[in-house]
Amino acid sequence: MGIRERIIAVAITLPLWVLLLTAPPTLVAAQGEMARMKSDYRRPPPSTVDSQVLVDLGRDLFFDPQISASGKTACASCHFPELGWTVTDARSRNDSGKLTSRKSQPLIGLRHAGKGPFGWDGRNPSLEAQAKSSIATGSMSMRDTATPVKVEVIEERVRSNAAYAAKFEVALPGTPINIDSVARALAAFERALEPGPAAFDRWIEGDESAISEQAKRGFVLSTPKRLALSATPAGDSPTTVSMISARRPRIAVAEPSSRTTH
Ligand code: HEC
Repeated sequence: MGIRERIIAVAITLPLWVLLLTAPPTLVAAQGEMARMKSDYRRPPPSTVDSQVLVDLGRDLFFDPQISASGKTACASCHFPELGWTVTDARSRNDSGKLTSRKSQPLIGLRHAGKGPFGWDGRNPSLEAQAKSSIATGSMSMRDTATPVKVEVIEERVRSNAAYAAKFEVALPGTPINIDSVARALAAFERALEPGPAAFDRWIEGDESAISEQAKRGFVLSTPKRLALSATPAGDSPTTVSMISARRPRIAVAEPSSRTTH
């Protein structure tokens, strides 16, 4: 091979050499970054239940239509356990027989929302306030009918039920049975509703086959700003930032991982 041919050969294979020399460290860096990102998404430890008897009492009340004005609607009428404590219908019938203005919401992981607010529009400052308004004036109340039932009637129903009276005495000793203590029990039950582990959680914990490659790319794409910022040395121009964030998904695809179909 003459000198000219050698130069041509090197010129042709140059991009390959560059790739070989630069790709592995980039890949290692990307993997390290991915691991850091994933660690941010680890599930918090499961709820510590303050009082199991209060939670159990709340569960009984949640499924009991007696705490609605008509005696026909339970909280569970619009929050089905098998659907993540929501419904498939866009709107539900309330105790007055009217359609709710919006779709009911899932009730899982509410404890992680801390103090709230709750409701699509955040109108309730706490879970207790939400339960109280549901019963007194909301979905559980026949307020919009010609024969509305007062909340005192509902309180008396619970109070005169011997099984409830005994459970309240154990769960909240010395506390009167009224709308406030009913709401406290319901809120305690709701705070104990932890979501089960999802495929995403298994992936975060290291099972590479738990989610698809597309889902992994989606994960990276959904947090480009954070990635770009964490990857960009201080003082870099915005162009560099956007270039890094645009490049990131392709780097993530190069992660060694097994095939998945779901
Ligand atoms: C007739 C249907 C219906 C009934 C019965 C019902 N809900 Fe709801 N629930 C809804 C709807 C609709 C929303 C969304 C309200 C909104 O913000 O517009 C909701 C929202 C909620 C939320 C807010 C969740 C969040 O993520 O912010 C909680 C908590 C809740 N309901 C608990 C209860 C409890 C406790 C009861 C029983 C006392 C109950 N619900 C009874 C339909 C219902």
